[in-house]
Amino acid sequence: MKFNGYEAWLRYDTVTDEQLAEQYRNWTNTIVVAGNTDAGPITSAVKELELALPKLTGAAPKVAKDAQAENSFLVLGTIGSSAYVDDAIIGPIAALSHEEGYVLKTITSEKQSYLAIAGASERAVLYGVFHLLRLMAQGESIEQLNIAEQPKYELRMINHWDNMDGSIERGYAGRSILYKDNELLVDSPRIVDYARMMASIGINGIAINNVNVHRAETFLITDKLLPQVKKFAAIFRSYGIKLYLSVNYAATIELGEVDTADPLDERVQAWWKKKAEEVYAAIPDFGGFVVKADSENRPGPFTYGRDHADGANMLATALQPYGGLVLWRCFVYDCHQDWRDRSTDRARAAYDHFKPLDGRFMDNVILQIKNGPMDFQVREPVSPLFGAMPNTNAVMEFQITQEYTGQQRHVCYLIPQWKEVLDFDTKVKGDGSTVKEIAAGNIHPYKYSGIAAVTNIGDDDNWTGHHLAQANLYGYGRLLWNPELSSEEIAAEWAQLTFSSSTDVQQLLIDFLMESWSIYEKYTSPLGVGWMVTPHYHYGPDIDGYEYSKWGTYHFADNKGIGVNRTVASGTGYTSQYEPEHAARYESLDTCPDELLLFFHHVPYTHVLHSGKTVIQHIYDTHFEGVERVEYWISRWEELKDKVDADRYEHILGRLQMQLENSKEWRDIVNTYFYRKSGIADEKGRRIY
Ligand code: GCU
Repeated sequence: MKFNGYEAWLRYDTVTDEQLAEQYRNWTNTIVVAGNTDAGPITSAVKELELALPKLTGAAPKVAKDAQAENSFLVLGTIGSSAYVDDAIIGPIAALSHEEGYVLKTITSEKQSYLAIAGASERAVLYGVFHLLRLMAQGESIEQLNIAEQPKYELRMINHWDNMDGSIERGYAGRSILYKDNELLVDSPRIVDYARMMASIGINGIAINNVNVHRAETFLITDKLLPQVKKFAAIFRSYGIKLYLSVNYAATIELGEVDTADPLDERVQAWWKKKAEEVYAAIPDFGGFVVKADSENRPGPFTYGRDHADGANMLATALQPYGGLVLWRCFVYDCHQDWRDRSTDRARAAYDHFKPLDGRFMDNVILQIKNGPMDFQVREPVSPLFGAMPNTNAVMEFQITQEYTGQQRHVCYLIPQWKEVLDFDTKVKGDGSTVKEIAAGNIHPYKYSGIAAVTNIGDDDNWTGHHLAQANLYGYGRLLWNPELSSEEIAAEWAQLTFSSSTDVQQLLIDFLMESWSIYEKYTSPLGVGWMVTPHYHYGPDIDGYEYSKWGTYHFADNKGIGVNRTVASGTGYTSQYEPEHAARYESLDTCPDELLLFFHHVPYTHVLHSGKTVIQHIYDTHFEGVERVEYWISRWEELKDKVDADRYEHILGRLQMQLENSKEWRDIVNTYFYRKSGIADEKGRRIY
């Protein structure tokens, strides 16, 4: 059988244990839908069962309207839709107080036995069905289920950076699945499969276009394209997903309708009100706007002497009557910096711009804050802005697409990185003020909160370019549902669902994924300094590529030392943006963690790390080790030759070989650069050029 990876984790591999298959057939041979559903998520749930069950168990289910005549069956429904459903939720009722909560419960009696999937909403029932199918695909018994679940985060968002010409900004898996030649691919069967995949991991909002909104995409909110957008929205709706659009802040001007985009100009305000009315007439459950303003040359309120609160509130006023949201991005910094100017620090920018505005945003505005203060580097501290604005809704933004982490040619499992961010205790309200809880709205009284991320998919057969990059997409959704899941647990689920029931294969994939971020970090830029990449492409080493540029991303390496002094004592003062405990920890060389040392300090190459090594020896050692670990994992992968289907085996092997070549390039360029700068030899006498 050929596996091109298209089915991803929804492969529904045949259950080979006949006893288990029999058990599954018993409970699922008849599906009863309680209540009415009109092409809503429950209808999608039934379709999914009809697709999956024959694959898993060999038997197609019968769909019945009524359960009277059945001995055993699967019943799906929302609260109050039938006595079967309501009986199942006595007990684990708590989950059902949440709109997206569901219960999976087996009820056995003399008369009738059934498995109920009861949800607080249709979308919740769909989530419950995906949960059941996941259990079956993992070979779990469903004989005595009593599961109640609800998501941790309210907004579980995916952002596409897709352009209407079909290109994807920072896309590494082919062209867009959403657009081609400035048309929306509304009839593509891929859209439905995509919606299935996203719903299966609990995603409930998708912004379908790039935050850099160019001319063609500015028309997405006009008569010209709204009828097409409406079709996407309908597909997503049937999977419980709301559609969002990125908008051009200066659409009034771009579309030639008002000669200004000043947020305080009444004509601008009226234009957006009318626009919101039109959008909601087409898509009544439209999610809202994602906005990149005054950022990297995009237009914004600064042009008119207004601030971000003025800009965001103007749009929020227009969307408010319909319950629409404005996701206003905080990726705002000076991208025309003079590298000679040592007083400006890009890391400070988001906090400096936004913190003073706390309390001024309307309550349907949500600030979308990147996880780090710079830009999705392999290692950064957590953004000090997250949690620093108690009176302003916030979501965290992650990057699933591997812009700076190997571009889906290298393996880099990002769940451990995101978990570190989520577990970071900001201390904004004392101990326990973790990012995880802030993003859930449990620390500050946010009206809206959650997590967003830039997706990594394209039209490659396997969606993500590298087969193993699917784990990041899968893991992202699972983590948003339940951030208490460990990275290993998520990797294990994914490996089993996507690859094989063989425990050898699974274990190898888990171990490899778990080490992959650290391997990538080892052979790329050291100790949190970041940015030693080819400008613009962000792939491959170029140590000084950004050193004398306008982007504000410098390492300041000379013959004596390296790193950015961000201390209050003698640097840019960035450390002061953290709560005192962290500020003090980062400020001092004695307590600053090794992995972030060069982010916060400029030190001599002979500075001794907590690990006991000098900075220069650390650079040499990690770069040699990184390559050795790629070699090691290639040899381990080769052990799976007969255990993984040939297509995926070869494809992954090919990418690993590319990773090896590139990691050697990184090793040799980085080591040589620092050897030449510092003149300090490698203690171990290895070959440096
Ligand atoms: C990065 C990325 C850009 C993107 C920007 C953003 O800088 O390289 O392509 O537009 O982030 O998040 O807006």
